[in-house]
Amino acid sequence: MTKEYWIGDVNSGSHDNSEVELKGWVYRARGSNKIWFMVLRDSTGTVQCVIKRDAVGEENFESLRNALIESSVIIRGIASPTDREHGHEIQVTSGEVVGPVNPDRPFPITESAMAESDGGETEFLLDHRHLYLRTGRMTTMLKLRSTVFGAIHSYFRDRDFIEYQAPNFVAGAVEGGSTLFEVPYFGRKAYLTQSWQLYAEAAMPALERLYTMAPSFRAEKSRTRRHLTEFWHAEMEIAWASNSEVMEHGEGVVRHIARTLLDERSDELTSLERDLDLIASYADSEYPRMRYDEAIEILQGKGVEVEWGQDLDYSKEKILTADFEVPHFLTHYPRVAKPFYHRPDPDDSKYVLCHDLLAPEGYGEIIGGGERTWSEAEILERIKEENAPMEAYEFYVDVRRYGGVPHGGFGLGVDRVCTWLAGAEHIREAIPFPRDSRRVTP
Ligand code: 4AD
Ligand code: MG
Repeated sequence: MTKEYWIGDVNSGSHDNSEVELKGWVYRARGSNKIWFMVLRDSTGTVQCVIKRDAVGEENFESLRNALIESSVIIRGIASPTDREHGHEIQVTSGEVVGPVNPDRPFPITESAMAESDGGETEFLLDHRHLYLRTGRMTTMLKLRSTVFGAIHSYFRDRDFIEYQAPNFVAGAVEGGSTLFEVPYFGRKAYLTQSWQLYAEAAMPALERLYTMAPSFRAEKSRTRRHLTEFWHAEMEIAWASNSEVMEHGEGVVRHIARTLLDERSDELTSLERDLDLIASYADSEYPRMRYDEAIEILQGKGVEVEWGQDLDYSKEKILTADFEVPHFLTHYPRVAKPFYHRPDPDDSKYVLCHDLLAPEGYGEIIGGGERTWSEAEILERIKEENAPMEAYEFYVDVRRYGGVPHGGFGLGVDRVCTWLAGAEHIREAIPFPRDSRRVTP
């Protein structure tokens, strides 16, 4: 059953004037009772197959002509270049239907259903997500996404980071209690992890440079363009490093992702109408650093109502980043705006040594990270400040009791990075089965 021929290769001219056997799905079809034009799709592209009654015989012609959209078929014929620029066609010699589609239940995602949608956003398309995956735009997104995942792994592995896994059932919050998912756990309560970080810090004295890519969970009640309840989180932790050194890796990995997409997926980016020069500027530029206080001034200068001490939500980041040409770091947030693990700035403990990386074009935060509070006394004080239950954090304090060292790390929202680099409107467009407060199906 092995597949030997790919439509992408036919279209690049690799099989000109020779016989191929294509396996795929009917993408579109039209014609008369003498000649039938079937556009065939596989994971690498589409190509028109010309089926003539005279050439394939009565039986073949009728069965292929009756194959509805998304029927799976095998087509044999001669690949040939056409007059249209870069075009190719198959002059069909024979073919068969493998998985027919019942005429009583035609493929529900029609061109008109697609036309109504805005990047796959209608409830109808979300209900039919399992079928929507095979449409052109989504297939392109999934390819970009795979390249982004590969680029993150290669960035860290090429720099001697060790991939390390943390549990998904946990006893305490990392990013505040309000977005914790509670799970019944044999008569007790457990939570789904919001971040790998605390368990990574436990392994920091063992591995010194570590990373992961795994799902994180947040009970985000409101549905926004950039929040999922289950998202893919690329996180790193590094020993003997300052906030500034951690930021260098944040900039490094994002630039590497942009570069890898240009190298491997420029056709896909173009098909999404992405400007390749813009993506190249994300790969080549240095990312400026700005203190939180400066961002507040800029926002206030624009007449935005924002008070010192607030974390910046999406509405504010959107305004701030609309003028950015490349991603910018915001550093030194007020201590009151950030979780307990951030290290207070020794120069002014109103602030913490942290950073968010904000993507341009109005996309906003894609990375959050910083230096960690690493002395026992300081972490006990911070946990108390937050009124957090000590029990869940005993292990975290132990990491400081036994040879604490300066260290830090960050978390990057992989789906957000995909959304931004693909130029998508909504984070749901960038993940195969998006999860939000209203949807766990399909
Ligand atoms: O800023 P956050 O909450 O930071 C942390 O979780 C740290 N513990 C990470 C660390 O230092 N190891 O989340 C990190 C990133 C955000 O910048 C954002 O890109 C993404 O995770 N993120 C989400 N992406 C999609 N949906 C959500 N609900 C997200 N919440 C966070
Ligand atoms: Mg954050």
